[in-house]
Amino acid sequence: MSDKAILEFGGSKYEFPVVQGTENEVGIDIKTLRGSSGMITLDPGYKNTGSCESGITFLNGEKGILRYRGYAIEDLAEKADFLEVAFLLIFGELPNQEQLHKFHEDIKHESHVDEEMKKIINGFPKSAHPMGVLSSLTSALIAFNPTSVDVASEEAMYSAIVRIMAKFPVLVAWTMRKKMGLPLEYGDDTMGYVENLHKMMFKRPNKEYKMNRVVIDALDQLLILHADHEQNCSTSTVRIVGSSHAGLFASLSAGISALWGPLHGGANQAVLEMLEAIAADGGDTNKFMAKAKDKNDSFRLMGFGHRVYKNFDPRAKILKKAADEVLGDLGIEDHILDVAKGLEKVALEDQYFVKRKLYPNVDFYSGIIYRALGIPVEMFTVMFAMGRLPGWIAHWREMRLRGEPIGRPRQIYIGENSRPFAAMNNR
Ligand code: SDX
Repeated sequence: MSDKAILEFGGSKYEFPVVQGTENEVGIDIKTLRGSSGMITLDPGYKNTGSCESGITFLNGEKGILRYRGYAIEDLAEKADFLEVAFLLIFGELPNQEQLHKFHEDIKHESHVDEEMKKIINGFPKSAHPMGVLSSLTSALIAFNPTSVDVASEEAMYSAIVRIMAKFPVLVAWTMRKKMGLPLEYGDDTMGYVENLHKMMFKRPNKEYKMNRVVIDALDQLLILHADHEQNCSTSTVRIVGSSHAGLFASLSAGISALWGPLHGGANQAVLEMLEAIAADGGDTNKFMAKAKDKNDSFRLMGFGHRVYKNFDPRAKILKKAADEVLGDLGIEDHILDVAKGLEKVALEDQYFVKRKLYPNVDFYSGIIYRALGIPVEMFTVMFAMGRLPGWIAHWREMRLRGEPIGRPRQIYIGENSRPFAAMNNR
């Protein structure tokens, strides 16, 4: 394969190096394009544009492959736990028993959140969406942890990572407890990371907390499946905010806001609301399919389609199976699961979806499991953020350690040409 790409324009030829990744992806390195030709590229939504080289997660959208640091998502979802996967994504290797124990002990040591933070969360009305609360609280943490990370110091980077891995679950739990009118309590450092998260979320003040292994394992797997996904919208947000050398917590707060959108992480809440609307409407999936295909209707089949996957999202496959298992283990009959399976069947046979290669994505089944675990629908995207935390941290760390330049795209200007100032009486 040639190691150069040639662009011919306006009677001139321009040569650009070609880069090849470890999975044989090929990219044209256009770093010199504007300097040599005066031209730029144009690619709204960056559908064809690589923002960086990264060694964290590999996706193959055509084959439905997802790997974290080379490990298949199917193996990690079945054989690892969330804290192990977090360590893998952030530091690049699966931890041995001693490393994992130290990581968890260091996290426990940082699992307090300043009591003053309660004044901030109590300033929100109960009606506030948990994602807005979580983004604000994450940014507010900066006030109590003001030292920005000296990225040249491995120790400083590690302690910032441990701090946010420790405090974020508390903020997630407090965000839910605030909505449910429950006291803002801490967890239990004698428990596992995900067990502790669940206890913080669900502990009732006047009842003994009973840990259910099926629930914890389901939650742990959900968090693993959401832990990273290469350059998705919210991760790209974390990277570009971090590229200005804004701190880790500030970058994460921005990523939470990007994830909130219904086209991204907010889709898991939108899927449940859509499925409930279909059920309420008598289960007429065809009516909603028609709306999804109607170009004059902004309605989209939430939980379907993906920028990268043009085949089944491997996470959706795992979650579809998990939904059956968890509901079965918990003895829950949820007609919404039947509506989801019915909708999936109709969509996968419909030419509009087949032609556009629209398959169920990670958000299509996740909400059904969250609901079975007793998590309120407005908290679904917060759970996505909890899962994505290690992925965001890993990408922020990689971007800073690689010394990436500040992100500042170009544009093609389509506004007014130069014109004289118009005095008020001439407007
Ligand atoms: C996540 O990027 C990631 O990795 C994200 C994520 C992660 O882990 O971080 O995987 C998590 O965000 C999953 C996606 C969750 N969002 C949804 O489920 C919302 C519904 N899906 C879409 O809005 C859409 O599919 C996107 C946003 C996910 C992808 O949009 P693209 O890549 O910009 O595709 P497009 O809008 O250009 O669509 C191509 C065609 C269009 O029709 P035509 O113009 O060709 O006629 O497909 C149609 C679209 O109208 N289309 C849909 C559709 N998704 C795409 N039509 C109906 N329903 C849909 N869901």
